[in-house]
Amino acid sequence: MEILKSIQEVKQYVQKIKKEGNTVGLVPTMGYFHEGHLELMRRARAKGHQVLVTLFVNPAQFGPNEDFDTYPRDFERDFKLAREVGVSAIFVPAMEEIYPEGYNTYVKVEGMSEVMCGYYRPNFFRGVATVVLKLFNITTPDEAFFGQKDGQQAIIVKKMVKDLNLDIPIEVVPTVREEDGLAMSSRNVYLNPKERQAASIINKSLKLIEEMVHKGERNAGRLIEAFKNNINTEPLAQLQYVEIRYTSNLQPVEELNDEAMMATAVIIGSARLIDNIVLKI
Ligand code: PAJ
Repeated sequence: MEILKSIQEVKQYVQKIKKEGNTVGLVPTMGYFHEGHLELMRRARAKGHQVLVTLFVNPAQFGPNEDFDTYPRDFERDFKLAREVGVSAIFVPAMEEIYPEGYNTYVKVEGMSEVMCGYYRPNFFRGVATVVLKLFNITTPDEAFFGQKDGQQAIIVKKMVKDLNLDIPIEVVPTVREEDGLAMSSRNVYLNPKERQAASIINKSLKLIEEMVHKGERNAGRLIEAFKNNINTEPLAQLQYVEIRYTSNLQPVEELNDEAMMATAVIIGSARLIDNIVLKI
């Protein structure tokens, strides 16, 4: 596995791969790998790509009082795990490589970036879209892989690709979970054992809603109410938001009549945990 540090090295590497008749599968990450990240890499490999992972904790998507400085990092462990799943190269740029002094250009997918997580993290999706577009331009992938865990992010990336005519197929990989249903996340390390146990309420509550839809409930208000009641049975869990929106455009649902996503952010201890389920009817 090659470890690439500069944009120039990445461009040369990609050129070589393509010249050999191979394709590039891109997996953008912020590191501290868990099974969720590794599943994206395996998926890219299974589709026959040379897998190029990017590892960059992107300051543009963190708010001033968020966890940029303390975001978990362990490059050596990440390199080892990536190597084991057959990643071909990993791009680990320094900050100045991505945002040199005087950097001034940002991309924002309007309408979708201000709702749900975007309401509580105002510049978050602008930071994500900007860095993802830069990574797309640097790596010119044949396909890129994102996780359903960050459902709103995946929808926004797809919309950016469409709006900007990028010609990069996006595959969204299902959420990888712990045994008790908790969605894997680099931020789960912030939980102490009691909080970790409490965190299983998030997926349990989402499953309950899935079951209600399965049995015929279509009213978003009632589904949301049931979700809140269930989350509130866990004293350590503090609900930040829960919403049901159509996956096609992120418009709010009143009576469910098309594929939608119930997405939530829950605060447990010092961790802000997100999860979602796709509601199919
Ligand atoms: P990060 O949180 O490191 O996640 C990298 C990718 O892994 C994202 O596409 C995310 O959705 C996916 N992922 C995380 N946990 C997952 C899980 N439990 N199951 C399946 N996929 C999972 O998301 C980001 O980084 C950044 O915003 C990034 C896109 C890299 C831009 O900076």
